[in-house]
Amino acid sequence: MSLPDQSQAALDWRDGSLPVSTRFDDPYFSLAGGLAETRHVFLAGNDLPARLCPGFQVAELGFGTGLNLIALSLAAGPVPVRFTSFEAFPMSAAEIARALTAFPEAEAAAGPFLAAWARGETRFTLGAVEAEVILGDARETLPAWSGAADAWFLDGFSPAKNPELWGEDLMAEVGRHTAPGGSFATYTAAGFVRRGLAAAGFAVSRAPGYAGKRHMSRGARA
Ligand SMILES: C[S@@+](CC[C@H](N)C(=O)[O-])C[C@H]1O[C@@H](n2cnc3c(N)ncnc32)[C@H](O)[C@@H]1O
Repeated sequence: MSLPDQSQAALDWRDGSLPVSTRFDDPYFSLAGGLAETRHVFLAGNDLPARLCPGFQVAELGFGTGLNLIALSLAAGPVPVRFTSFEAFPMSAAEIARALTAFPEAEAAAGPFLAAWARGETRFTLGAVEAEVILGDARETLPAWSGAADAWFLDGFSPAKNPELWGEDLMAEVGRHTAPGGSFATYTAAGFVRRGLAAAGFAVSRAPGYAGKRHMSRGARA
């Protein structure tokens, strides 16, 4: 599937640059600072960048604005890594550019991604990261993926509002698409998500959350 000309995300904007999904009634980022949250939850939660090495595969549920991709690219520096994200309701390049104005460091690095996205490309390079965004409902596209991630960013909207991206069957697919020793991190500590990930073969633990959130979750597979 190639990228549609029109946005498929249904958005409201808060404070000019914070996208809020009207479909899911949830913001794309923490109100307390998306880039810092990404670094705390998804990078540190997966022990990145320390584990990065050539060919390292990151996978993500929920591409959104691509902020997590940009943070990975900044963290990876010259190390060639791979990033695959699953997204059902892609934002347009103009919407993504608007959201990134809140994060000057990310905005400054986003040029090649935004140019590719505006051309309708879902495979592109950002810094040393080979990126691919697989469009469609992750419940259908992830089972068909032939890859295996060394680290997962689980970044759906809140489990209460977007339960389809956190269900037990999908978490089992996350487990099935994880390399030996691979890890996951997510901002949520919701019980049903943690149980689904444990059933998928991860040793799940709690860690301090970002900016006043008591807990996030992280884990690794044997
Ligand atoms: C919190 S946002 C992701 C934020 C993103 N990681 C970023 O860096 O901007 C959650 C994303 O999950 C996507 N999503 C929700 N349900 C989905 C599904 N069933 N399959 C694939 N993507 C889905 C939404 O469209 C949204 O882009």
